[in-house]
Amino acid sequence: MTAGVLVVEHPVVQHRLAALRDETTDPAAFRQVVHDLSALVAYAAIQHLDTEQVAVRTPVGVATCTKIAETVLLVPILRAGLGMVPAIQGLLPYTEVAHVGLRRDEATLRSQVYLDRLPRDLTGRRVVVCDPMLATGGSLVQACDLVASRGAAHVQAVCLIASVPGIERFRTFHPDVPVACAVVDPGLDERGFIVPGLGDAGDRLFGPPD
Ligand code: PRP
Repeated sequence: MTAGVLVVEHPVVQHRLAALRDETTDPAAFRQVVHDLSALVAYAAIQHLDTEQVAVRTPVGVATCTKIAETVLLVPILRAGLGMVPAIQGLLPYTEVAHVGLRRDEATLRSQVYLDRLPRDLTGRRVVVCDPMLATGGSLVQACDLVASRGAAHVQAVCLIASVPGIERFRTFHPDVPVACAVVDPGLDERGFIVPGLGDAGDRLFGPPD
């Protein structure tokens, strides 16, 4: 597999992926499976966090325990990335969320920034960029461009379904940003949809945008 790409092949993930892809999965079940998969993929992806040792009194003694000691900045790419945020927040004790709104032009497939709420200075920060779909890769490249331009120290991308061309493009622009996902599909259709993919994640989570 491509260096820097983690595909979480655990059966618990793959079982949920079947429901994510299924066109008969209704919106409530789709939101739930996005939630479950986001937690599982993010758990596998986020291996490095600053920690501290603390003494914890148990009913029978004192244990030396490890606690997370940093605040992770989550950057969901709107709209679909929003569906991943509660699950990843649920894994981590300290998070902040900065939204980036990107929308693909349906004719050119180029993504355009319509919202940028990233902090001006991300020096030293650990950032998790989340978007269920890595299709052409344009949105994730652009979001990571913004994050990198503010000086983030560690960036991790968490997706659910990626495409081979999307991964290749992303690796060209951000070779040092690891990507985690549940599966990598072979290609895209003429509309830039991942095939077989799941359709439009934003629409399945939130309904049509217009
Ligand atoms: C979709 C999807 C990703 C992006 C992936 O969003 O949710 O953000 O396209 O495509 P790319 O890798 O080719 O850039 P869309 O632009 O449809 O917006 P939405 O989430 O608001 O529906």
